[in-house]
Order: sequence, then structure tokens, then C-alpha cells
Amino acid sequence: MNNFEFYNSVRICFGKGEIAKLSTLVPRDARIMLTYGGGSIKKNGVYDQVISALSGFNIIGFGGIEANPHYETLMKAVALVKANKIDFLLAVGGGSVLDGTKFIAAAALWEGADPWDIMTRRNHATVKKAIPIGTVLTLPATGSEMNGTGVITKWETKDKLAFASEHTLPRFSILDPEVVFSLPQIQISNGIVDAFIHVMEQYLTYPANAPVQDRFAESILITLIEEGPKVLADRSDYNAAANFMWAATMALNGLIGAGVPQDWATHMIGHELTAFHGIDHGQTLCIVLPGIMRVKRENKQEKMLQYGERVWKITEGTVDERIEAIIEKTVHFFESVGIKTKLSDYGVGSEIIPKVVNRFINRGIKAIGERGDLTTDDIARILELQLK
Ligand code: NZQ
Ligand code: ZN
Repeated sequence: MNNFEFYNSVRICFGKGEIAKLSTLVPRDARIMLTYGGGSIKKNGVYDQVISALSGFNIIGFGGIEANPHYETLMKAVALVKANKIDFLLAVGGGSVLDGTKFIAAAALWEGADPWDIMTRRNHATVKKAIPIGTVLTLPATGSEMNGTGVITKWETKDKLAFASEHTLPRFSILDPEVVFSLPQIQISNGIVDAFIHVMEQYLTYPANAPVQDRFAESILITLIEEGPKVLADRSDYNAAANFMWAATMALNGLIGAGVPQDWATHMIGHELTAFHGIDHGQTLCIVLPGIMRVKRENKQEKMLQYGERVWKITEGTVDERIEAIIEKTVHFFESVGIKTKLSDYGVGSEIIPKVVNRFINRGIKAIGERGDLTTDDIARILELQLK
């Protein structure tokens, strides 16, 4: 196992009715900004629950944080934070609202010239402080509720980049599985595959003698395979929603990734598909991962066979036959929960390949993946395999 330092300070309040605890979690004398998205929280009752829990608190609202949150929108919130001397941010929404709020928290206290440097890490820029954040999660998927990561898009240049800091770890996150009841089918599907692929990024690499991390990872994958379809069949199934929600949080809170190699190539390539074509985050991952499994099958062989045996019970046949069956099972799972896996399914053709490859070249990135050997030629092959 590799050396590691694990730190996660997020207080999780999990279960039905937990939103009412806000009054004890948010500091009484804080000047609060409540951040939210396009308005789903006003339709599903979450907004009313938050406002009623915080009655008598000093709150202003900032709505309109879009999916794949835009830097341009978030900078408007930063101006409002400064003008109103806000000292607590309460993010109520999915990963986009949470990520966007983390960026607002860091940008509002940023002392450098350009807050976009937080994302590009120009001149080794790092976040040194941030306004405290609390969250009420409304969409199980990203794990943003229990990590310090934010993924932000600069609309002007179509750059979609990630930053991470322990200063943007939420102080608390409220996870009430009943928020799942109002989710559209596509967002449930996106959430299932996003969580699944977060696990794969930290698991489908090479063996590191880390059986605890491996078995935690496998248990999350199996839970998503078993519980995901139940949520899709009946989103008012509280127990299925609760298991889905906790699985998604555990998939990206640092636990299964401690002390093991990590890949993240699927996400890096997927972010470009969202940036160029607006394809949902979860959908992009299901396009890219099967291509990576094919192109990097030798690199990943040992973990691929372990995944096949322990998750899909595939034990028969030659190594090649087993790997083929494993990739097929994985693709079938994505399709069975409603996510298509080819670029043509999203109206995208081969013109995307040089665009994505050039993005990596222009950023000076020669190779990615757990071994740092997935080259820009590999990226082209991966996308080519996934054309139709
Ligand atoms: O904007 P509103 O009106 O709230 O509607 C949202 C949005 O349209 C809707 N929604 C959320 N909760 C709902 C609901 N509709 C009905 N009922 C509810 N309870 O769902 C739509 C999508 O929301 P969004 O927040 O964009 O989805 P998700 O949670 O999947 O977040 C995706 C973003 O997270 C980033 C992605 O790149 C993407 O930008 N990621 C963040 C990560 C992290 N912080 O660690 C890791 C991930 O890999 C990912 O990259
Ligand atoms: Zn993701």
C-alpha cells in the first residue's frame, strides 16, 4: 500500500427530516448566502424546509447556478458576497451548486489578481482560505458533499477544470434521501453512473496490496448495481434512495482512494466532451470508460479480472474472453440504467477527436492515467472506438 494522509472533516447529517437541524449547524450570528440552481428546490419543498429551519437568521439568496457551473455566474455571487460581508455560504442543490459554492468561497477571499488562477493553478496558485460552507445535497452523484473539490467551467473559453482544497471541505452536509423523490429519471441515471465511475477511477488501476480499499470499492459498485435499478423503478423507495445516496458519497470522499493508485483519465477526457458539446457529466463518463478499458486492457488486466470475478462473477474463459465479457457487462449496466455509451448517440462525430486531443496538447499535458502513460494518441484511439 502507498503512504497516505487521510483527512475528512465533514459532518454528515443523514436521513429523513435532517434539514430541520440547520438551525443548530449554521452559526446564529452569521451573514448567510443561500446558493441554489435553476429552481428545483422551490418546486420540491427543499427551499421551504431550509427557510423554515433558518427562520430568524440573516440570509440573502443567490439562485441561477447552472449545471456545470459557470465562472462568469459565480463571479457575480462573489461580488454580492463582498458587498454584503457574507461570512457563511449554504449551498442547496446538486454537485453543480455545491462545486460553484466552493469556488465562490475561495474566490471571495482570494488575494491574487485573477480568481481563475485557482482553476489553472497558474504560478502554482493554491487556495489558502475560504468562507465556511454548509450544504444540503439534492442529488446523489458527485460526492461533492464530502470532498473539497469543485469543477468549474469558464464559458468564454469553454475550459472545464477542477480544483481541490481542504479549505473548501463543507463544515457539514445534510443528506436527506427524500430529495431523490423529485429527481428526473436522467439525473438518477447520471448519478448512478457518476458514482460508479468515481469508484472505477480509484479501483481499476493496478494492485497495490490494499484489500480494505479494494473491498470497500467493490461493495460500493455492487450496491450501485443492486440499488440503482430499484431507485429508477420506484424513486419513492426510501431505502433504495438512502443506499444510493450513501454509496455516492462514499465513492468520492477520499476513503477508497487512500493509499492506492488513481486514474481519472475518464473524467479528464469526459470534461472536454461536456465543455465542447454540453453532454451531461455522467453520460460523458460512460462514453469514455469502455474505450479506456479496451485501450488500457493490459495495464489494467489484474484489477480488471478481479473486478470481473468479484463484481460480475466472471470466472470462465481465457483472459481475453473474460476481459471482453467484463467490458460488455459494464456497458450493459450503463445502458440498462439509461445511459448510452457511443458518441453518435449524442450526435457527435469524429470532428471531436482532434479538438479534445489539442486541448491536452495546448495545456502541455503529454500523458495521463494511473501510470502516466495514457498519451494523446491513446485519447484519439479511445474516442475513435466510441464513435459508434
Ligand atoms: O438547477 P436545479 O433547478 O436545481 O436543477 C438541477 C439540475 O438541472 C436538477 N436537480 C438537482 N436536484 C434535484 C434536481 N431536480 C429535481 N429534484 C432534485 N432533488 O438536476 C440537474 C443537474 O444538477 P447538477 O448539480 O448539475 O448535477 P450533478 O450533481 O450530477 O453535478 C454535476 C457537476 O458536478 C461535477 C460535474 O463535472 C458537473 O459539473 N463534478 C463534481 C465532482 C466533485 N465535486 O467532486 C466530481 C464529479 O466527478 C463531477 O466532475
Ligand atoms: Zn464524476
